[in-house]
Amino acid sequence: MTSKLLWVCFILTTSTFSTSFSLQPDQPKVLLVAFDGFRWDYLYKVPTPHFHYVMKYGVHVKQVTNIFITKTYPNFYTMVTGLFAESHGIVSNDMFDPILNKSFSLDHMDIYDSEFWEAATPVWITNQRAGHSSGAAMWPGTDVNIHESLPTHYMPYNESVSFEDRVAKIIEWFTAKEPINLGLLYWEDPDDMGHHLGPDSPLMGPVISDIDNKLGYLIKMLKRAKLWSTLNLIITSDHGMTQCSEERIIELDQYLNKDDYMLIDQSPVAAILPKEGKFDEIYEALVHAHPNLTVFKKEEIPERWHYRYNNRIQPIIAVADEGWYIFQNKSDNFLLGNHGYDNALPEMHPIFLARGPAFRRNFTKDSMNSTDLYSLLCHLLNITAMPHNGSFQNVQDLLNAATPYVKSTTLLHCNNKQKEYKRENSYDYFIGVSLGSIIVIVFFVIFFKHLIRSQIPDLRDMQAEIVQPLLHA
Ligand SMILES: *[C@@H]1O[C@H](CO)[C@@H](O)[C@H](O)[C@H]1NC(C)=O
Ligand SMILES: *[C@@H]1O[C@H](CO)[C@@H](O)[C@H](O)[C@H]1NC(C)=O
Ligand SMILES: *[C@@H]1O[C@H](CO)[C@@H](O)[C@H](O)[C@H]1NC(C)=O
Ligand SMILES: *[C@@H]1O[C@H](CO)[C@@H](O)[C@H](O)[C@H]1NC(C)=O
Ligand SMILES: *[C@@H]1O[C@H](CO)[C@@H](O)[C@H](O)[C@H]1NC(C)=O
Ligand SMILES: *[C@@H]1O[C@H](CO)[C@@H](O)[C@H](O)[C@H]1NC(C)=O
Ligand SMILES: *[C@@H]1O[C@H](CO)[C@@H](O)[C@H](O)[C@H]1NC(C)=O
Ligand SMILES: *[C@@H]1O[C@H](CO)[C@@H](O)[C@H](O)[C@H]1NC(C)=O
Ligand SMILES: [Zn+2]
Repeated sequence: MTSKLLWVCFILTTSTFSTSFSLQPDQPKVLLVAFDGFRWDYLYKVPTPHFHYVMKYGVHVKQVTNIFITKTYPNFYTMVTGLFAESHGIVSNDMFDPILNKSFSLDHMDIYDSEFWEAATPVWITNQRAGHSSGAAMWPGTDVNIHESLPTHYMPYNESVSFEDRVAKIIEWFTAKEPINLGLLYWEDPDDMGHHLGPDSPLMGPVISDIDNKLGYLIKMLKRAKLWSTLNLIITSDHGMTQCSEERIIELDQYLNKDDYMLIDQSPVAAILPKEGKFDEIYEALVHAHPNLTVFKKEEIPERWHYRYNNRIQPIIAVADEGWYIFQNKSDNFLLGNHGYDNALPEMHPIFLARGPAFRRNFTKDSMNSTDLYSLLCHLLNITAMPHNGSFQNVQDLLNAATPYVKSTTLLHCNNKQKEYKRENSYDYFIGVSLGSIIVIVFFVIFFKHLIRSQIPDLRDMQAEIVQPLLHA
């Protein structure tokens, strides 16, 4: 009977220890979150305690150089491919490919033609080819069939689906029997409100507070699902936003005959496809038309934009100065905020924060290129990156020095900086270890009693003398 009890104790002990160890991160997990149009300095416009909480326990990059043109779809595809627009092929939200003789337009969600996407292979596909699973909640491009693949789990794009419902899906996939290791979560604001109100409007304050609350909700749900300590959370955006004004409008009809060209993309980078034989006429008419409009022949587009070698880049592009708006005529739709301008402008830059077992804590970096995010993702996911335009070396300093797959090190090292992190993460571990220790003590007490009773004859007589040396051994 005592030996049975001994076995029960032994099994309890080992199982308690293994559960307390399985609470440690095993497979590296990454959740990439993007709030569309979240300009880098919105963090300081109003109190954003949840963003600052992530910064305090993680990393923050102050200036992220995104890619030209600073529009949504080109930048989202760069984040998941590491390529400049000319290489990944999503050169704008509105495109025409003269070889395919096909158009692409975000306005009418006419974006589902695979051929526009297949110059590149996004990270979710590479992740799945390596045997992992991915899950995407409305991330641009994740409901498009690319190289005959879709994410393992995804939501068909529907802007009416609430943030809470998107978070619920992400958590469901991370905690499923066959969990994802890569999650992608997208939210439309503050871009939508930034366009309508203009980033300088005091009404943007509540909009940013609302985003901060949404991040708070995400953190709360990740903690509740016991994902917080094992997940690498990256929070970023595609671009910033700048204030426009009806006093800063460039009207193409004043300079060009609208029958002479097709306007493929409008503002702030007009993409102009001249009709047969009209190229010189259009270029000459436009090149000195307006002091706040810079006109380029395709082959003269500045090198630093990496925006030249693609059929979908039109023969002439006209780029407005910051805050200027290009109209074909005055009846066009005007927005108080816009983006798409030169990617060297700070107003076009997005946020970048990250937190999790792989990342350093309370670390600020001055700058990075958005093309580097892809190689960081591949490193975290332990997959081989496709050829890209970023560099892992440039962002390696965001990671813990030891290894990205930090296991027990977070809990064993105990300097002042890590104390609070330990406190917020080690509760489960603490319970596991305490329970384990109690069971070990009970086990040894019973073990010694058993040993003493079964192996030593005439125990009762000698008990006092024998127990003492045994306990000291
Ligand atoms: C391009 O497609 C349009 C219809 O979308 C068609 O009218 C036109 O003939 C096509 N052009 C060529 C060169 O195939
Ligand atoms: C989009 O989501 C909303 C809210 O969940 C839902 O009512 C609507 O039916 C959805 N639309 C489509 C086309 O699925
Ligand atoms: C617009 O052009 C004027 C005249 O060249 C210049 O002074 C001004 O700085 C330009 N605006 C911007 C935003 O570059
Ligand atoms: C302005 O341009 C649009 C096409 O962009 C056209 O439909 C509209 O008729 C034009 N309006 C005027 C007043 O020329
Ligand atoms: C974060 O780092 C800054 C200096 O880089 C320091 O002043 C601050 O106390 C640190 N905060 C925490 C919570 O460690
Ligand atoms: C960004 O990339 C360029 C080369 O394309 C490089 O010269 C620059 O150092 C990079 N910036 C950072 C902060 O890594
Ligand atoms: C990373 O992937 C390699 C195979 O590509 C595998 O051998 C290794 O165990 C993986 N590392 C982790 C920590 O998952
Ligand atoms: C970007 O990367 C692609 C793929 O490796 C390569 O073909 C292209 O030349 C690179 N672009 C630049 C500007 O280095
Ligand atoms: Zn926008």
